[in-house]
Amino acid sequence: MLIMKTLELIDKLSETHNLTKEEYLYLLDNIDKEGSDYLFSKSRQTALANFGNKIYIRGLIEYSNYCKNGCYYCGLNKGNLKVRRYRLTKEQILDSCKIGYAVGFRTFVLQGGEDLYFNDEIMVDIVGAIRSKYPDCAITLSMGERSYDSYKKLYDAGANRYLLRHETANESHYYCLHPKSMSFKNRFECLNNLKSIGYQTGTGFMVGSPNQTNENIANDLVFIQEFQPQMVGIGPFLPHSDTIFKHKMKGSEEKTLICIALLRLMIPQLLIPATTALGTIDFTGREKGILAGANVVMPNLSPTENRKAYSIYDNKISTEETPGEMDSLIERLQKIGYEITIARGDFNDKKI
Ligand code: 5AD
Repeated sequence: MLIMKTLELIDKLSETHNLTKEEYLYLLDNIDKEGSDYLFSKSRQTALANFGNKIYIRGLIEYSNYCKNGCYYCGLNKGNLKVRRYRLTKEQILDSCKIGYAVGFRTFVLQGGEDLYFNDEIMVDIVGAIRSKYPDCAITLSMGERSYDSYKKLYDAGANRYLLRHETANESHYYCLHPKSMSFKNRFECLNNLKSIGYQTGTGFMVGSPNQTNENIANDLVFIQEFQPQMVGIGPFLPHSDTIFKHKMKGSEEKTLICIALLRLMIPQLLIPATTALGTIDFTGREKGILAGANVVMPNLSPTENRKAYSIYDNKISTEETPGEMDSLIERLQKIGYEITIARGDFNDKKI
């Protein structure tokens, strides 16, 4: 009976792209091996129908690990005095783009902590330079909460996409993860602003962050269903040894995969990365993510000497690879029947 209902709900999501909070919660609470096998086969088929066996690549440039925030889960929080802080120069950022372009990247993701040094003037200059050198590339920003005006200036300078995980759609859970100086409301205002300006907007959450319940995740899924972002990044929570969450349990890989699969059925065209956190919790986690419906990978293009300092959680992978190293990625995808594509990979509205 339980199994029947689980499979029926998976079919319903796959057909209507819409479930209630109670239905998502029912799935999260009751799905078993048979249910998740069924879910993954459906979500994989949906990804294949929309994207074929092609995986989009995004070159990640971690341009600064300074941050003014104190998120309890993140190794880069301002209270962590053990971090060797760094900022890339405009030239270093452009060099990373050049290396990335040569090996086929057509999206550059500039990701950093909330670093006040990178004010609008400096960022507009950097974004403008990338835009004029690489007119055929997408520029994605992932630099936290900023004002409407700032987002607009960066968009006008040539940025196309913005990643800002909502982290949790539950206010009380939000304040389990963030200090009172941060604002739950502002995060959602930022997301609305980004979308209304015209960015392809990404959001997301961690699976298994401290105090998270399945009900919280059901609320995250309903938020995503209503917000209809173009991208969603999710990965398991992984503790960082220099944070107050150092003794907390890591998130579940299986539940992360289930969330990826539910998202694929909810929004078939969604751009879903197989995240670094998934590849860190399990050596083959990113492959499993792809087989559950993810269709993006984001290799690291940052200068190798800075990689280790961008430590948001312990044992983050890809700190050793040389920038733009693609051979091992191509090989690993090949083993599961997929291949990278150098297409820009914008969100495509048409529903299959
Ligand atoms: N474990 C897993 N993911 C984390 N993030 C930050 N810290 C951790 C951690 N300890 C995620 C957050 C953030 C993104 C850049 O990385 O969701 O938005």
